[in-house]
Amino acid sequence: MKKLNNKTAIITGSTSGIGEGIAKRFAKEGANIIISGRNQEAGERVCREILAEGNGSCYFVQGDITDFDTNQLLVSTALEQFGSLDIIVPSAGELGIGAAADITKETWDLTIATNLSAVFYLCNLSLPHMREQGSGTIIVISSIAAYKFFPNHPAYCASKAGVNAFVRQLALDYGPQVRANLICPGQVDTPLLHNSVKAFDNPEEIIQQTADRLPMKRIGLPDDIAGAALFIASDEAAWITGSSFVVDGGSLLL
Ligand SMILES: NC(=O)c1ccc[n+]([C@@H]2O[C@H](COP(=O)([O-])OP(=O)(O)OC[C@H]3O[C@@H](n4cnc5c(N)ncnc54)[C@H](OP(=O)(O)O)[C@@H]3O)[C@@H](O)[C@H]2O)c1
Repeated sequence: MKKLNNKTAIITGSTSGIGEGIAKRFAKEGANIIISGRNQEAGERVCREILAEGNGSCYFVQGDITDFDTNQLLVSTALEQFGSLDIIVPSAGELGIGAAADITKETWDLTIATNLSAVFYLCNLSLPHMREQGSGTIIVISSIAAYKFFPNHPAYCASKAGVNAFVRQLALDYGPQVRANLICPGQVDTPLLHNSVKAFDNPEEIIQQTADRLPMKRIGLPDDIAGAALFIASDEAAWITGSSFVVDGGSLLL
């Protein structure tokens, strides 16, 4: 029995990494998927791979998520193609590395726009439909950086702490029809993680050292996050809202 049969899900940042993993896992569980990202080639590849597996339906909407209009197009495509909008998973993320005195205004603004304002845009546009249809689930991909600080990541940490507060507010305001939760991943093997350690002289060694120190002795895979997202999206999580799920192999314990 598929867990997301006939549900429609928009997953931003699904041309790569965690978002791609969630899109593929949701499709396997019967969901209709809207893929989102700027990279046309990658978006078409992910859709092709989903369709080739014979799982559900899939559309790619190309665009910059920091543009309000891109979010509007995502929502209208879901409604026009599938007639409902049941799940949104904002996963698009920007690292914006640089200590507070060094980071440019452009990098700061882009990081806040991607990790915080774009999440607001998609929620702002989706919530009226979810309310009207009487149900909906929001799962925002935040980070352990909402709780813990990393050298030279002030914009990233601030944006993730901000989005955690925003999502909890949604849970308060939009129950019982809409559930809103967060996943806060630790170190997951994606291009973003490899970019995050570029500031070090020995980036790949840093990743290996991180893996060795974690209680679970490995960094995460997109599928580790997708498993948590599937649980939160499913009816098994019907009474869960306003929660933040740390999925980090024990990283926050260190
Ligand atoms: N990997 C980790 O260790 C880790 C840990 C904690 C939290 N996270 C969070 O997990 C989420 C996903 O990251 P990831 O690790 O999967 O990174 P990733 O593989 O680099 O993917 C990032 C995704 O975000 C999209 N994106 C970024 N800026 C965008 C924009 N302006 N407009 C549209 N799409 C945009 C990219 O699509 P295009 O390139 O096609 O635009 C890509 O699909 C992020 O929110 C990140 O903060 C990751």
